[in-house]
Amino acid sequence: MTEDKNISIHGQWSSRWAFILAATGSAVGLGNIWKFPYITGEYGGGAFVLVYLFCVAIIGIPIMMAEVMLGRRGRQSPINTMRSLAKAEGRHGIWSWIGWMGVLAGFLILSYYSVIAGWGLAYVFRTATGVMHAADSAGIKDIFGELVSDPEKLLAWHTCFMVLTMVVVARGVKHGLEKAVRFLMPLLLILLLILVGYAMNTGHFSEGVEFLFKPDFSKLTGGAILTAMGHAFFTLSLGMGAIMMYGSYLPENTSIAKTSIIISLADTMVALLAGLAIFPIVFSFPELAPGAGPGLIFQTLPIAFANMPGGQFFGTLFFVLIVVAAWTSSISLIEPAVAWLIENRGMTRVRAAVWSGLATWLVGIATVLSFSHWAFDFNFLGTVKHNGVFDILDILTANIMLPVGGMLIAIFAGWMMKPKHSKEELALNRSYKLWQFLIKYVAPVLVFVVILNIFGII
Ligand code: PHE
Repeated sequence: MTEDKNISIHGQWSSRWAFILAATGSAVGLGNIWKFPYITGEYGGGAFVLVYLFCVAIIGIPIMMAEVMLGRRGRQSPINTMRSLAKAEGRHGIWSWIGWMGVLAGFLILSYYSVIAGWGLAYVFRTATGVMHAADSAGIKDIFGELVSDPEKLLAWHTCFMVLTMVVVARGVKHGLEKAVRFLMPLLLILLLILVGYAMNTGHFSEGVEFLFKPDFSKLTGGAILTAMGHAFFTLSLGMGAIMMYGSYLPENTSIAKTSIIISLADTMVALLAGLAIFPIVFSFPELAPGAGPGLIFQTLPIAFANMPGGQFFGTLFFVLIVVAAWTSSISLIEPAVAWLIENRGMTRVRAAVWSGLATWLVGIATVLSFSHWAFDFNFLGTVKHNGVFDILDILTANIMLPVGGMLIAIFAGWMMKPKHSKEELALNRSYKLWQFLIKYVAPVLVFVVILNIFGII
């Protein structure tokens, strides 16, 4: 299929840094700034954060290395990469199902991801026009409530965001994207630091720090452990082929271990900073609660902006950056499907982007309605969820599909591939043994045990 075996037909990153930036762009997104704080709040803080950090280090980093390695060796969409690698290793073609499940997970995640990114777009305008500035904390809460209970508005913003995503995907992931990430990611970091600075002056900073880092193990339910593990996959973009896809554009002779560690550290740092910015604000206002759910950042951060000098400007910029961070993640959610359509259905990139974008947009309508007409409560392993289909999609993808996908990737890389091949691709010396141990025994077993435990089997 490819003329030069060492380059993907879809192109290649211009350098190692281009890959690091793009993969960090995929990893850093709504998962860090929107999801991490709200699920940490729902599951009671410290102990949850500890499990999440543990999973990133012990499961996430080794699996990220495996995904990049498989992608670079296969040089195609995850479906075809898995098929050709299975063949090369003398294994059954059924391993390509990892790719199929990943494509499905990517669709489902993007369908709700785009709706939440749409909230971000709405907030760019609400902050820029000063609506937020004039409101007090109760008013800010109401503004959020009004937005999400209006399906027409949500649909309009969801549509805008899907169009943005399709435009970049249609042009090819490399163009424009590399540049966007290079400038905007550091800017996001600076703004987060400013927000943490604000949080330090709320008088409730130590409460926030304690909530995030002081583990109370009595709050660690089965649901909390599953969600923390699932979030480690979600936030690092693992288990569905996004990182495998980006790995397929990676030049030879790049250290997979080093790049994976850099990406994971950057991602974790952004999440922790978001938590440090948000919880002190939560504890400063009695009408706010850590367990407020998906609206948490939209009800807290505008308060900070309303009270700081230059807040209207910084607030607008911050929501722009959240949208950009979501944008660089959303394209990686759909790229595996698009690359497959190009490879196997002979579509042009533009057609492939439009069709997969339209399909995702349609599924997204279920999430649009989840905050109003289709909202319902249900009990998820002891935690009450309020937003019907949205919560179900989120639990199904982040807590089940990604960890299972990641476990299968670990099994393939650790057990199905000849050690000679993985060693050659990873180019590690002594630390190869450590990676091999983690990928063969630790990562798959932990995922398996947590999932079995949830279904009450052990
Ligand atoms: N990692 C992204 C985030 O944290 C979401 C994502 C998940 C992207 C899976 C790609 C694949 O927002």
